[in-house]
Amino acid sequence: MSAQGQAGLLRRLKQKLTGSHDGGNGSALESAEGNAAPKGQGRLLELTNVSVHYGAVIALDNASVGMDKGEIVAVMGPNGAGKSTVLKAIMGLAPVVGGEVYWRQKPLHEETHKIVDLGISFVPQGRRVFIHLTIEENLEMGCLYLRDRAEKRRRLDAVMELFPILYEKRKDMASQMSGGQQQMLAFGRGLMADPEVLLLDEPTLGLAPRVVKEVFGKITEINDTLKTSIFVVEHNIKGALDIVDRAYVLDKGKVVHDGTPESVRATDILTQVFLGKISEKPVASGSESE
Ligand SMILES: Nc1ncnc2c1ncn2[C@@H]1O[C@H](COP(=O)(O)OP(=O)(O)OP(=O)(O)O)[C@@H](O)[C@H]1O
Ligand SMILES: [Mg+2]
Repeated sequence: MSAQGQAGLLRRLKQKLTGSHDGGNGSALESAEGNAAPKGQGRLLELTNVSVHYGAVIALDNASVGMDKGEIVAVMGPNGAGKSTVLKAIMGLAPVVGGEVYWRQKPLHEETHKIVDLGISFVPQGRRVFIHLTIEENLEMGCLYLRDRAEKRRRLDAVMELFPILYEKRKDMASQMSGGQQQMLAFGRGLMADPEVLLLDEPTLGLAPRVVKEVFGKITEINDTLKTSIFVVEHNIKGALDIVDRAYVLDKGKVVHDGTPESVRATDILTQVFLGKISEKPVASGSESE
C-alpha cells in the first residue's frame, strides 16, 4: 500500500473508531471501541433440547448448547456428529423438530436473512467464496441489502484493516487467492454483516499447519478487537482448545461433554467419541461458569 493510501485508510479507521453508533444491535464492528460487556455476562445464544431430523436420520438429539456474550465456544466431535447442524439450526437452515433456539433469551423463529439482520453471521464449511468476483465484490456480498453506501464503506475499511491481505488484493479475483487467504475472505464477508455472533464451520479444514495457526490467531483477534462472540466448529482439537472459553463435544447428535477447555483435556471424552467407544452416556458437564 502507498503511504498516501495508508494515511487515508488510517484516517477512515480513526473516523470509524470515533464515529457515532447506529443505535442498532450493539454491533460488533462498532464495539471496536471496547465498550462491549466483558466475557461471560449474559447468555446471548442458546439451543435448549434441540432435535433435528432429516427423514429417518437424527442429526441432533435433545442437544443443549449455549454461549455468553463475548465468548469463543467450540463445537467438536467426529464426522456426522451433528456439529454443522448446530450452526444450521441457529440460522434457521435445519428442520428442527423439538426444543428451542433462543437469541437474547427470546425464541428465535425468523427467516435466515432476518437472523443475519439480528446480528448472527454464518461462515459455512468449505469457505464458498465467489471465485469469479473480486475480493472487494465478495466482501460486499456480505451486506448485499445494505443501502447506506457510507456504512458499507465503513465496514469495508474495518474489515480490510483487520485483514491487510484483503486490502492488498481487493481488485484481484478470489480465484487468485490461496486457501488460507480465501478463509480470511470468508471471515471478512461474514463480518461485513456487522454481526454480534459469528458462526464458523471448520475454518481450518484443508489448510497447511502454518496457515491453521494464522486462522486461529485471527479468530482470537476478531474476538479481542471487535468483541464478536464466536461459535467455531473444529476438527483441530488442540488448536481449538487453545483459543476457546468453552467447548461442547457432540457424538451421534447428543452433547456428551460441555465445559472449559481444561475440563475437556482432563477427560478421555474425545478419544472415546473419535474411537467410537461411547454409546449412551449422560452429558458430562465440566463447566465452571454456569
Ligand atoms: N441435508 C441432509 N439430509 C440428510 N441427512 C443429513 C443432511 N445434513 C446432514 N445430514 C446428516 O445428519 C448427520 C449430522 O450431520 P452434520 O453435517 O451436522 O455433521 P457434522 O458433525 O458437521 O459432520 P462433518 O464433520 O462430516 O462435517 C449426519 O448423519 C449427516 O449425514
Ligand atoms: Mg460439518
